[in-house]
Amino acid sequence: MVMIKVSPSMLSADFSRLGEELKRAENAGADWIHIDVMDGMFVPNITIGPSVIKALRPLSKIPFDVHLMIEDPVRYVKDFSDAGADMITVHAESEGNLNDAIKKIRELGRSPGISINPGTPFRTIEEYMDKVDLLLIMTVQPGFGGQAFREECVQKITQARKFIDDNRLNIEIAVDGGINRGTGEICVKAGATVLAAGSALFSLADMAAEIKIWKSFETYRP
Ligand code: DX5
Ligand code: ZN
Repeated sequence: MVMIKVSPSMLSADFSRLGEELKRAENAGADWIHIDVMDGMFVPNITIGPSVIKALRPLSKIPFDVHLMIEDPVRYVKDFSDAGADMITVHAESEGNLNDAIKKIRELGRSPGISINPGTPFRTIEEYMDKVDLLLIMTVQPGFGGQAFREECVQKITQARKFIDDNRLNIEIAVDGGINRGTGEICVKAGATVLAAGSALFSLADMAAEIKIWKSFETYRP
């Protein structure tokens, strides 16, 4: 049986109370916490860095799913690992050597992930599939929370699911951007196993009830 994981994105949390927001998501049944790192270069926005992750780390044992939207990510992989990131995901479109970044994440004992923007075809990253633990399919153009889900990305989930199953790989397929109850269910049916979501979860007074529904979505049938 496929277990669906929910990874609430701290980008939509109240930044003046990050510690409490982390606990709120954890207590609501989150499996992972999605942390969006933006450098103002790879995307036109700047968020948080390793020092904030380090400050949050002692508050919770929940896996930190760190999404690096930064150029040449290999430069910062060690800093994020030292800060307590469990999964470190780098972008296929970023500058720098992806193989080196993935290798370094693995050497540091963390789980490497690779992410693709809506405009990037799945076939361009097939060669990395035997090296990563996580494929993060962006369902919006990265940079900001609260954008509308891009339906055309669903076929990429189907494609990735088939590739992973055909090659008997053990990789989570995560989706990120515009995920809510409706779009999340579509993605899970197409083969996603992790739902990252910011605005749809942190805006709720009762995040727990919503997470429970998402975790019960009927999964794809191979
Ligand atoms: C967007 C980030 C997302 C963002 C999603 O660039 O990578 O993780 O937090 O936010 P929502 O769920 O509001 O689209
Ligand atoms: Zn993200």
